[in-house]
Amino acid sequence: MLNDKKLFGIAAIFNTPDEIINAAKKVVESGFTKFDVNSPYPVHGMDSAMKLKSSKLGFVTLVMGLTGGALALLFMYWTMSVNYRIVIGGKPFFAFPALIPITFEVTVLLGTVATVVAMIALFFKLPNNNHPLHDTNYMKSVSADKFGIIIEANDAKFDEKFVRDFFQDLHPLNIEMIYYPEEENYSVFQPKFLLFLFTTAIIVSGATYFTLNKLLYITPFNWMDDQEKLNPQKPSDLFSNGFGMRTPVEGTVARGFIPYPYKGETNPVHVLSNPFLPTKKNLELGKAKFNTFCSPCHGYFADGDSRLRGQFPNPPTLHSKRAIDFSDGMIYHIITNGQNVMPSYASQISRDERWAIVNYIRALQRAKNASSADLIEINKETGTNGAN
Ligand code: HEC
Repeated sequence: MLNDKKLFGIAAIFNTPDEIINAAKKVVESGFTKFDVNSPYPVHGMDSAMKLKSSKLGFVTLVMGLTGGALALLFMYWTMSVNYRIVIGGKPFFAFPALIPITFEVTVLLGTVATVVAMIALFFKLPNNNHPLHDTNYMKSVSADKFGIIIEANDAKFDEKFVRDFFQDLHPLNIEMIYYPEEENYSVFQPKFLLFLFTTAIIVSGATYFTLNKLLYITPFNWMDDQEKLNPQKPSDLFSNGFGMRTPVEGTVARGFIPYPYKGETNPVHVLSNPFLPTKKNLELGKAKFNTFCSPCHGYFADGDSRLRGQFPNPPTLHSKRAIDFSDGMIYHIITNGQNVMPSYASQISRDERWAIVNYIRALQRAKNASSADLIEINKETGTNGAN
């Protein structure tokens, strides 16, 4: 009766950790490779006794993690530098620091998911959910207080009589023949397993529904939710026009903010005059702001050599006679108000910064159109003569 079952392996059970370590060493020495040890708790020194190599799982994590990082970078490169090129704040199309978080996240995501999937599917061979050792006396004792070792029948050196004698020499408590289960079908689709899946699905979805839709909306107290107050963009019965939001009282001026009087005029007759002297500090501020906000279109030296070619109409050079003849107030007006296709920069650049930009443009204009008089003037200032 026993003989027509298929043999999985021969197992021996021992009483102490020392005996099992000794047994493992002997098995390795005899040249068996397909064997395993089972113990109720981790036994120190077992890895080296069994000559176990380190797990291959780390390679899966490494390869898939690197793949994830590379894919994320490639995808972001493609969207930002190839498919959807938009200049934002003068940054390069492929601004690497901004891409680090996503690259990191996708690396970790793919690495971990691949590790779990590889562990379950490759190493544990899901959907197989059974093992010949299940439900054996061997498993019952090694999961309680005994130590067991099993040599599998598909080992190249396996010979039933030899293995039995070999184990006998080690004086085990017991030797057990392990067979593949005969009739039971352990496929995924057995009713027991399907019932388990079904029940789990119902419990998990029920718990999720309850948490997200009920538990989260139970308020322990409500005195912060229900306040007598007006929320932005919400109607209100209190005011005659039914709006919750109010406009400022006519004639009010925000602190530190003087309204620009010539707003919307395309050809202002009056313009303001520049309240700032072109000191070194002021010019440096002007340069920083010009390079950030104006240079993408006007170029770093206001030559009109736009970096947005093809995305926005090129502006004219600011070294034309027309632009040189603009008053300071006119340039201020163009920044504040915009001119034709050039939009207003009033919301991005403060009043003082706009005047600093005007000073910087003046410096650029003078530097690019310098005359010999400028040289003499500089020399006067530094107290040196032209010969030096
Ligand atoms: C988005 C691109 C863009 C940016 C940024 C930009 N400009 Fe312009 N600018 C233009 C264009 C285009 C024109 C020409 C508008 C027209 O057709 O009158 C122009 C015109 C001007 C003119 C008038 C030149 C003339 O001869 O009429 C001045 C002055 C000027 N810009 C200053 C600035 C300053 C200062 C900044 C930074 C605060 C700035 N621009 C930012 C696109 C830009």
